[in-house]
Formats: sequence, structure tokens, C-alpha cells
Amino acid sequence: MKKLWGGRFEMESEAWVDEFGASISFDQNLAEEDLLGSIAHVKMLGKTGIISEADMNDILGGLGQLMMELKDGKLEFKTELEDIHLNLEKLLHDRIGPVAGKLHTARSRNDQVATDMHLYLKKTVNEVLLGINQFRHVLAEKAEEHVETIMPGYTHLQHAQPISFAHHLLAYYEMLSRDVERFSESLSRIDSSPLGSAALSGTTFPVDRFYSAELLGFSKVYENSLDAVSDRDFILEFLSNASILMMHLSRLAEEMILWTSHEFHFIELSDAFSTGSSIMPQKKNPDMAELIRGKTGRVYGHLFSLLTILKGLPLAYNKDLQEDKEGMFDTAETILKSLSIFSGMIETMTVHKSVMEEATQKDFSNATELADYLAGKGIPFREAHEIVGKLVLDCTKKGCYLQDIPLAEYQAVSQLIEADIYDALSSKQAVLKRNSYGGTGFEQIKQALGRIKASF
Ligand code: ARG
Repeated sequence: MKKLWGGRFEMESEAWVDEFGASISFDQNLAEEDLLGSIAHVKMLGKTGIISEADMNDILGGLGQLMMELKDGKLEFKTELEDIHLNLEKLLHDRIGPVAGKLHTARSRNDQVATDMHLYLKKTVNEVLLGINQFRHVLAEKAEEHVETIMPGYTHLQHAQPISFAHHLLAYYEMLSRDVERFSESLSRIDSSPLGSAALSGTTFPVDRFYSAELLGFSKVYENSLDAVSDRDFILEFLSNASILMMHLSRLAEEMILWTSHEFHFIELSDAFSTGSSIMPQKKNPDMAELIRGKTGRVYGHLFSLLTILKGLPLAYNKDLQEDKEGMFDTAETILKSLSIFSGMIETMTVHKSVMEEATQKDFSNATELADYLAGKGIPFREAHEIVGKLVLDCTKKGCYLQDIPLAEYQAVSQLIEADIYDALSSKQAVLKRNSYGGTGFEQIKQALGRIKASF
């Protein structure tokens, strides 16, 4: 088939070579954006008198028809036509004849593809923001149910101090709030129109870039035409924000996986989000959480792939840039689906409150309480720490816990210890008393939930 750019060629390329160069198998995802970009461009061509109003209307009619056919799933794309831009141009030609050829006046596929990608990401980032916000809601609602559910808080994956389960969930809420900030802030950089930069240096036609930008809903235009067609920072930023988001989801996924294990037994996932084993009849596996943890790797991969593609590229357009798309599409799909799955998983999980709380009673996570108790009575904290450390060591040798030590033995260590020590050693008290701003105390969590709800 003769190429749309075939004028200076004497020989036709072979199908397998065409296939290697083609992007239509994936850039057909940009069909709608490409048509929208063309509609804005042709309106600009008409308004500025670059083409006649009659030609503009003919082309607009054809583009409108293609948009309808696209929505009805009736457009057929061909690999020989390389990419979405050339496919749509050919389809337009089939609908309205040679006037279709005027659409590409003062435009190149270089500014065209960049425009499509900006439109696509603007739409996608808004969908991602919705997805994260929906998940934040789910986390806040779960947290509200579990303000007084006590669990071990860990450092080094060792029991550290008891905390409220709500506090743990709200920690993820906060991470996701920063993800929302990052994606929202990136919108200001995505929201810029490259259209009218043409191949690299601008155009001799009197284009009105501000007008086409306005029609497309962009709030500004790229200032430099070379930059406009070669910039892929906005995609890198998306992949980087997506990587951070996935890292957050992956940390929670890892915890869910641990918590569903026989050893922890803190939560049980709904059957709807678990799978069985083909050989071991007892198995109930947290596959969805594992997949989210696994898919984090592929999103990081897409970020690294694009960073590597870009690092040595001379200005302006190079075909290497065609490799920017699949990773972006795959990342968008991965994060949107991971967010939905995670929302469903958290919403429907069963929390074994008593198992969580019991885990804070057969351990030394109240050792800080005892040290704080002594420090509260005037013993320097370092000394108190030493005293409690020795008591813990004694207990580990005897096979008991701090709350099992009789009062007489405590008083032999320090006369300052009174009968109220047992209350202070309870995990509930340990949580309740951590009322410092942002701490795990129930009062603090209620206030945090109040702030969160006010922000919705
Ligand atoms: N399919 C190409 C891409 O995705 C469109 C731009 C092609 N431009 C060019 N000068 N060959 O990058």
C-alpha cells in the first residue's frame, strides 16, 4: 500500500518491516483524543483563514462521522497505515475525499501525537484521582469502625507498642492524600498544548495556537516548539507518581498478606477477593493483594523504561518516543484496577479484633508504659529504661510478662511502683494515653477522622 508520506520513496517496505514500525496496535487507544485534536485544529485553520470555511465544515463533518463510528466500534485500523494518526487520516479521506488532505496543513504527527498524549493523561489523571479518593473513603470508613480495635504496632516487624487499628489504616489514608496532591499538581504541567508546534520549528502558516488550546480545554500552550514536540516529562511524572502510589498499595498489600497468614490471623479476606489451590483443599490465598504487590514491579519498570528511552535523545522528535505509550497505558490500567480491587478488599474484609488485641497481651509491647510510669514519678528516663530492660530479661527467663510480676516484686525494684501499675500496663491504656497530636490515642484518632470527614 502506498504510504501517506510515500512521495520521495521508490521502493515499498515489506510487511514485516512495517509491522515493526507500526504503533496502531496500541495507539488506537488515542483515537478519541486524536479526533478531538483534529477537530480543534481544523476549527483553528478555518478561523484563521488558513483553509476556507467550506473546507473546514466538510472536514468537521467527516471527523464527526468518524467519532460516531469510533463510539459504535465500527472503525477498522490497519497495520500498513502505521499509527492512529495516519489511519484516521486515511479513514477521513475515504469518507470525504481529497479535502481531507487539508487537515494536515500546519500540523505534523509530532505535535499531533504530543497533543493526544496530553489529552489522554489529563483525562486519565482525573480518573486516577477519583479512584484514589474512593479508596481513601473506604479506608476512613473502616478506620471509623476500628478506633478502639487494638493491635500490636511494629518496628523491625517486632512488637513495639500497641496501637489502634484505625491509626494504622489512617497512616495509609495520609500516604494516599499525598498521592492525590502529587497527581493533582501534575495536572498543571499536563495542561499545556503542544498543538501548532508542527514538526519541530513552528509553521509558516498564521496559526492561532491559543485558540486551538482553548478549544481543547488546555489552559496554556508550550512556549517553545522544540520542547513541545520532544517533552515527555509529563508522562515521566505520571509514571513516577504512579510508582509512588503503587509502592503505598504494595506496602499495605504486604501487610494484608501477613495478616491473613495462619500465624497472624488478624484479618480474613472475603471469598470474593481470595482464591483456592488446585491441590490443597484448605487453601485460601490472598492472590489479589499479592498481584498488587507484584504489579508494582511492572509500574516501576515502565518508569525506568521511559527514563532510559529519554536520556540520550537529541532534540527534537525521534521515533524512540513511540515507545512512551504502552507503559503509560499499562500503568493507567494497572493503577486504576489496583485501586478498585483494594477498595473492595478492605471494604469486605473481616477483622479479628480479639486476635489483634490478644497479640498485644502476650508480649512486652507495654515495656515503654512501665518506663514512662517510672519516668513520670521522677526517675530519669534512661534509668527507668535500664530497670525495665532488666525486668523484661527476668521475665523472658521465667516465661512471664510484665503484667504477671507481683506487686511485692515490683516494689522490691522500686518503692515508686504502686498497684495502679497494672492498669497502666494494659494495652488499652497504652493506646488511650498516647494523646500527643497525631498519636494513636483514641481521642487523637477521633479528631483525625473529624478532620478527614470535614475535608470530604
Ligand atoms: N506513531 C508516532 C509516535 O507515536 C507518531 C509520531 C510520528 N512522527 C514521525 N515523525 N515519524 O511517536
